[in-house]
Amino acid sequence: MSDKLDEYFEVAVSLVKTCGNLIIEHINGCKVFEVKSCDIDFVTEIDKKVEETLIGGLSKRFPTHKFIGEESVASGAKCELTDDPTWIIDPVDGTMNFVHGFPHSCISVGLTINKESVLGIIYNPILQQLFTAKKGQGAFLNGRQISVSQVKELHNALVTFEAGTSRDEEKSHVVFENFKRIICKGHGVRSLGSAALNMAMVAQGGADANFEFGIHAWDTAAGDILVREAGGVVIDPAGGPFDILARRVLCASTPELAQEIANTIAQYYPERD
Ligand code: IPD
Repeated sequence: MSDKLDEYFEVAVSLVKTCGNLIIEHINGCKVFEVKSCDIDFVTEIDKKVEETLIGGLSKRFPTHKFIGEESVASGAKCELTDDPTWIIDPVDGTMNFVHGFPHSCISVGLTINKESVLGIIYNPILQQLFTAKKGQGAFLNGRQISVSQVKELHNALVTFEAGTSRDEEKSHVVFENFKRIICKGHGVRSLGSAALNMAMVAQGGADANFEFGIHAWDTAAGDILVREAGGVVIDPAGGPFDILARRVLCASTPELAQEIANTIAQYYPERD
């Protein structure tokens, strides 16, 4: 299994790096976008090109593998997770940032086998940050091993979370409420504008926790294994096990901090992937 995982990893990293060049080439010029689920949910030509290149390259090398890609699903493909090896791809996570030239966008690629994330790659080509993880082998930033912080209490925690890409009234209410609850108790809040990079920041120990409602499997598949391999925990924001299709995630440096945040925040339950 380990040899196979190494092979999957090498092929995926090489494709991801090639696709990163497309993002770099267009970071100052890609202001053309279409809207998807609502007026703040964007897709650009680069999102589509990166996803086509990744799926094309991976399926050529691994013809029996399955795929869940953000833009393929937006165009009508099924979001179906089976026990088969499945590549879960967000071609540009942080498309809003990409359109504005805010330098926090990444390619996020996770591989699940038996529905468990076993490999994760998160690449921000603009800042040259390559986050990688393989099951049982640790988490790395540009080849250097990274680990989560040791923070156990919200009182000492820096927490990332996002308003997301929907203007749903009930969800907005929950976001405002949680902003208030977290700033009243913790050290502060941050938003990078990319769910995968928020999770990578927890893996790196720069933030102590991250949570979000309304994300999708492609936003969290790579971050899930990255945070766990960095020594952190990934759970459902209400405190139960993480469910990759439930569109809810909470990750933290320690189980104590994760549970305290789960007990503190207001909950929102989006429709499943
Ligand atoms: C979005 C970003 C954003 C998060 C949204 C995601 P996209 O992904 O990760 O930070 O708040 O929930 O949908 O649309 O840029 O790939």
